[in-house]
Amino acid sequence: MPQQVRGVVARAKGQPVSVETITVPDPGPGEAVVKVLTCGVCHTDLHYREGGINDEFPFLLGHEASGIVESVGDGVTDVAPGDFVVLNWRAVCGTCRACLKGKPWYCFSTHNAKQPMTLQDGTALSPALGIGAFIEKTLVHSGQCTKVDPAASPAAVGLLGCGVMAGIGAAVNTGAVGRGDSVAVIGCGGVGDAAIAGARLAGATTIIGVDVDDRKLEWAKGIGATHTVNAGAGDVVAAIQELTGGFGADVVIDAVGRPETWKQAFYARDLAGTVVLVGVPTPDLRLEMPLIDFFSRGGSLKSSWYGDCLPSRDFPYLVDLYQQGRLDLDAFVTEKIALDEVEVAFTRMHHGDVLRSVVVL
Ligand SMILES: NC(=O)c1ccc[n+]([C@@H]2O[C@H](COP(=O)([O-])OP(=O)(O)OC[C@H]3O[C@@H](n4cnc5c(N)ncnc54)[C@H](O)[C@@H]3O)[C@@H](O)[C@H]2O)c1
Ligand SMILES: [Zn+2]
Ligand SMILES: [Zn+2]
Repeated sequence: MPQQVRGVVARAKGQPVSVETITVPDPGPGEAVVKVLTCGVCHTDLHYREGGINDEFPFLLGHEASGIVESVGDGVTDVAPGDFVVLNWRAVCGTCRACLKGKPWYCFSTHNAKQPMTLQDGTALSPALGIGAFIEKTLVHSGQCTKVDPAASPAAVGLLGCGVMAGIGAAVNTGAVGRGDSVAVIGCGGVGDAAIAGARLAGATTIIGVDVDDRKLEWAKGIGATHTVNAGAGDVVAAIQELTGGFGADVVIDAVGRPETWKQAFYARDLAGTVVLVGVPTPDLRLEMPLIDFFSRGGSLKSSWYGDCLPSRDFPYLVDLYQQGRLDLDAFVTEKIALDEVEVAFTRMHHGDVLRSVVVL
């Protein structure tokens, strides 16, 4: 029987979100219904509400979640009812050109549920990042459920479902930060601070957090930044160069995603260094630069989709590090909120009051 549950919907560009009654179908072949336990509020949810991702309103927001599998459809063998899972938006297909080349973290044909979740009038919802988890129960593809240790705190490990994985992966996977490297991270929100945590795990010895907000810089220090720079207080590039022997950092991660921050990342890196763009730019943004600078500075300019993660490989080991006290995921959970407080959480995010607000159901 399809179920009626409450979920958070963005009906129109720029309009406040609302809690609505949503119909969740029984799982079809390959699908699973998951009882959501927690879901973090990611900046990407706000991008969706602002029309910055696409125009496929109405959206069912939320995509950074933990939960318990309630039921599975025909042919599902990888998870079973009762499993504790972190939801992922990279259920790899195994057959696309990226998967066949042995690079499944780029999978171009990831699995999502085939059936739609709908509003009461039958309108199909677009689930954010193919998940939609600000809802009591959600329908996903079974491959979007990654089993992890059920002893772990749901609010903390649920963050691996998006922002924290994107940040850690931007440093560890995409940026390939190594022992003794210098790393700068521009934008110390949930994603940027996770990149700081990732750089620390990878053995970087100089880790510079850059933000416009001093409270964010304090949190960044707590998570592993060895130095901080307030971007509003002067020349960011010069400050990073000064902290790295005058040369620039080996890896600079832009966790904001604007032309000005990307340019800072580009020029604040050492010759032949690496720039990683993990912040998501809106489609209107443009970059204009001397082409010769791309050539003469060398190195590599990369984008990081979901931290180039492979959920089945990366979620369980990061949960292990968390359980062992080597990765402080609890530090990312600023507050726990109810389902009807997502709009308030967007305001707090906008004002820089939180690293992560986590909806607890
Ligand atoms: N690539 C991916 O797979 C992926 C995954 C999740 C999120 N994201 C994106 O990452 C970005 C960050 O997400 P978040 O949840 O951490 O957001 P957030 O709002 O929590 O953090 C953004 C931070 O950037 C800071 N900032 C803003 N302008 C700045 C500037 N000019 N210089 C320095 N700092 C500045 C803010 O003060 C804030 O601390 C968003 O664009 C989000 O959509 C990307
Ligand atoms: Zn694939
Ligand atoms: Zn996200």
